[in-house]
Amino acid sequence: MTTDQYSVLGKAPTAEELKELASNDMHLTIEGLNAGYGKMEILHDFNLYASKGQSVCLIGPNGAGKSTILHSVYGFSNIFSGTITVDGKDITKLSSAEKLKSVGVAYILQDNSVFPDMTVEENLLMGGYIKDNTNESYEEAEKIFEKYDHLKKRRNHPAKVLSGGERRLLEISRALVMKPSVLLVDEPSIGLEPRYIKMVFEILGDLQKNENKTIILVEQNAKKGLEFADVGYVLTSGKVVLAGKGDDLLYNDAVGRLFLGG
Ligand SMILES: Nc1ncnc2c1ncn2[C@@H]1O[C@H](COP(=O)(O)OP(=O)(O)OP(=O)(O)O)[C@@H](O)[C@H]1O
Ligand SMILES: [Mg+2]
Repeated sequence: MTTDQYSVLGKAPTAEELKELASNDMHLTIEGLNAGYGKMEILHDFNLYASKGQSVCLIGPNGAGKSTILHSVYGFSNIFSGTITVDGKDITKLSSAEKLKSVGVAYILQDNSVFPDMTVEENLLMGGYIKDNTNESYEEAEKIFEKYDHLKKRRNHPAKVLSGGERRLLEISRALVMKPSVLLVDEPSIGLEPRYIKMVFEILGDLQKNENKTIILVEQNAKKGLEFADVGYVLTSGKVVLAGKGDDLLYNDAVGRLFLGG
């Protein structure tokens, strides 16, 4: 796919237009972000606005910079300029640990980050490793077991016995031990069978609706991502080329042709 193809998507949305897709209760903002790796700039003047309890899905071709956005919020990339805030607090220069601890930004790893020989419970408690009070981690882990029977049944089993879907559930749950308010989720459905994809989106939906978590999601499966999310951003070559309500993008002709195989 060439960049030209995206010109059909029209003029890039302005920061004001993006802001209108969020409600007044702003939670996470990214403004004028130029970021990348080493000296290479991947994101160019990128803006994003998410209100409290809102979900935003980033879609776009391989290499567009979707993961780099999550990396920038969490502190895994080089930020050249721009500002990232959570609840009005400037977090641009905080370390990842500080972000997790002070403003509750959690990044859900998708790179098979479960420790196979540790038990499910031990894996879960690892999520709270930077907490000063380990009792709190135990309490949170207990709450998670109450909620997810799949994990409870296997709490004393080594994590390597989990199925792919259960493993993804453990990865998500581990981030929850820190009681984050913002979840950064990179391709939660990748490599999963359909029934587990459904489960993962149900869990994310539960966290958004019942626990008011703000979710920034990257999803290769654009249909699933846009069906799930309140708002979608289409990214190409480090820039937003189109944004809208998830449902509107789902029925947008150009998005359909480019990303939904329609
Ligand atoms: N750690 C890194 N060091 C250097 N360059 C990187 C690094 N991670 C990504 N890149 C480069 O940054 C660009 C954007 O990558 P990114 O991973 O953000 O894309 P993406 O939209 O998530 O793509 P995909 O859909 O394939 O996951 C790519 O050109 C990639 O090669
Ligand atoms: Mg990626």
